[in-house]
Amino acid sequence: MNWEAVLAPYKQVVEELKVKLRGMRSQYELESSHSPIEFVTGRVKPIQSIIEKAELRNISFDDIESEIQDIAGVRVVCQFVEDIYTIINMLQTRNDFTIIEEKDYITNKKASGYRSYHMIIEYPVATIHGQKMVLAEIQIRTLAMNFWATNEHSLNYKYEGRLPGEVRSRLERAAEAAFKLDEEMSKIRNEIHEAQRLFRRK
Ligand code: GTP
Ligand code: MG
Repeated sequence: MNWEAVLAPYKQVVEELKVKLRGMRSQYELESSHSPIEFVTGRVKPIQSIIEKAELRNISFDDIESEIQDIAGVRVVCQFVEDIYTIINMLQTRNDFTIIEEKDYITNKKASGYRSYHMIIEYPVATIHGQKMVLAEIQIRTLAMNFWATNEHSLNYKYEGRLPGEVRSRLERAAEAAFKLDEEMSKIRNEIHEAQRLFRRK
């Protein structure tokens, strides 16, 4: 398998989505004082992870591109939970890609405690051989959700997915604390916005 060639369009998609989402961030900053986007990151899944996921799920090489939906992945991180829904609404009205699936792990958190909103999109990318449809995953989450998910991911990596019970329950409590933090911050959101407006003017 020529991985370089297979992954090239995915790399293109990640770059394009990053430019577009970061462009929205700048637009919001120009036109309103608050941007619902704090930052945007993106990555192409490492070859080793693609192979491992394919093996784990008995996906044949021919089906990788249709079965693995997060080869191209971008993440939009927001200050407030409300911002997530602003982003979702905005993404739903775009016509430069099609939304295939939406998973609301904010209303329905995962057993681990994980919270985020996921969108699987089909994105048309121009290649030298013509247009190609590529699947990509957009994860939208708050800073607090991101803090939790990043740490949980590191621990899962360290323990190869077999977290000791003690660590697992601490993570569950941390997830609830992060959720509480988001709720509390939402309640003083207007005051925070006002403070940030004042700060910007100086
Ligand atoms: P994978 O989890 O990617 O194998 O695919 P899936 O079909 O189960 O999709 P799901 O929406 O569950 O997860 C997609 C992505 O969300 C993962 O690749 C992770 O980036 C993230 N994710 C899902 N669950 C968790 C979790 O419990 N902890 C962390 N840190 N990230 C998670
Ligand atoms: Mg999963």
